[in-house]
Amino acid sequence: MTRESWHTRLGFILAAVGSAVGLGNVWRFPWMTAENGGSAFLVVYLGIVLLVGVPGLLAEFVIGRRSQRNPAGALFRLSSGSKSWGAVGLFGVVTAIVLLSFYSVVGGWILRYFLASFSGAYFGSPGAYFESINFGLQAVGFHVGFLALTALVVVGGVRDGIEKATKVMMPAIVVLLVALAGWAVTRQGAGAGLSFYLDFDAAYLRANFFDVLGAAAGQALFTLSLGVGTMITYASYLGDDNNLAYDGSAIAVLNTGVGVLAGFVVFPLLFATFGELTGPAASGGGPGALFVSLAGAFSQVPLGQPLAILFFGVIVLAALSSSISMLEIPVAYLVDEHGVSRRTATLSLAGLVLITGSANALNPALFGFVAGTLVDLMLTAGLAGFLVFVGWVLGADALSEYSTGAGSRVRSLGPAWLWSVRTVLPLFLVATLAVNLLALAG
Ligand code: PFF
Ligand code: NA
Repeated sequence: MTRESWHTRLGFILAAVGSAVGLGNVWRFPWMTAENGGSAFLVVYLGIVLLVGVPGLLAEFVIGRRSQRNPAGALFRLSSGSKSWGAVGLFGVVTAIVLLSFYSVVGGWILRYFLASFSGAYFGSPGAYFESINFGLQAVGFHVGFLALTALVVVGGVRDGIEKATKVMMPAIVVLLVALAGWAVTRQGAGAGLSFYLDFDAAYLRANFFDVLGAAAGQALFTLSLGVGTMITYASYLGDDNNLAYDGSAIAVLNTGVGVLAGFVVFPLLFATFGELTGPAASGGGPGALFVSLAGAFSQVPLGQPLAILFFGVIVLAALSSSISMLEIPVAYLVDEHGVSRRTATLSLAGLVLITGSANALNPALFGFVAGTLVDLMLTAGLAGFLVFVGWVLGADALSEYSTGAGSRVRSLGPAWLWSVRTVLPLFLVATLAVNLLALAG
């Protein structure tokens, strides 16, 4: 049986952007920005996306296209059968399952808010509404619903499922967000939100440098879907004619653009409605902060209900195109390495995540640990492993894979890229990991 592949180059880019653009952009990015000094965070985050994110994306692409395999199979084969490197890849497969186990719970919340927007159920008391649905049996139900939608697309396969779905979803997301941002920034009082977001605050950055750095690094990896093997897996369905550096930059730019755009919806809306970052969002009150604040804002503005339907509808699509990419990693692993059919692989893995995700949906403490801490640590460790692999095991082969399909200008940047992948970037990630682990212990 021949392995699946993307139908078009644009199809690959949109699927990868679909993976990148998700709850990380619309839920986690504004939340992290609000907690870490607004514009100060924005600047550091953009720097890390450029200096660590883009080279990291390229490293994952190189592994994927070279091996035409899932992360575990890729590292195993490319190291000519090293079990240890295979285990590093397998760590990514496990990370994907852990990730989906909390992401699907948040996806369930979004689905819930989307549906509840039609009746306006949360308009009366947004805070109490969130408390009543966030954890428990109802949360399990919506988690299962969101997971079922995810599995439905993955069963369809690379071309007929993922490529077709993301080709519709991505343009829809951009159009709707632009419309929402245009509406939000023109509301009276939006200016205060814009200056919180955009006026650079050097004093804040100086006083909180390491906190901002750690949070920005974690967010940069999460938002670009790095350190799991998603981008390895998606690039494994590529042919030799793609210019990886070009595609990687396009994906980073589009993902960052959508994140920044989401900020143009969220901050002006919150400041215009409440005059400040109110309530849970201001105190960094955890994962529900943005739901409560935004739901509150939608309940107070004219035409709030249709706008809420639009807003949560967009986020459902964005979340789905990301959760699809998470489920695809272990599915590709079972298909490639164990000869399981796509259908059986998808259904059994969805069954597994149904259980692990339900544990998160029933236990707020577990959810908080997985979503807030565990995932950051796993992504950072995972990407460090992939970079060391590309830099020290693939070496010259990585450079030739990088150059395949590239023009001369991109080729000339190859040696600098490989050097950074061998040295400064893994060191940066290991240092971030150490700082995060120390913070955890202390
Ligand atoms: N990048 C996604 C987001 O910003 O929501 C989250 C994500 C997807 C992380 C896939 C990791 C991954 F493998
Ligand atoms: Na993202």
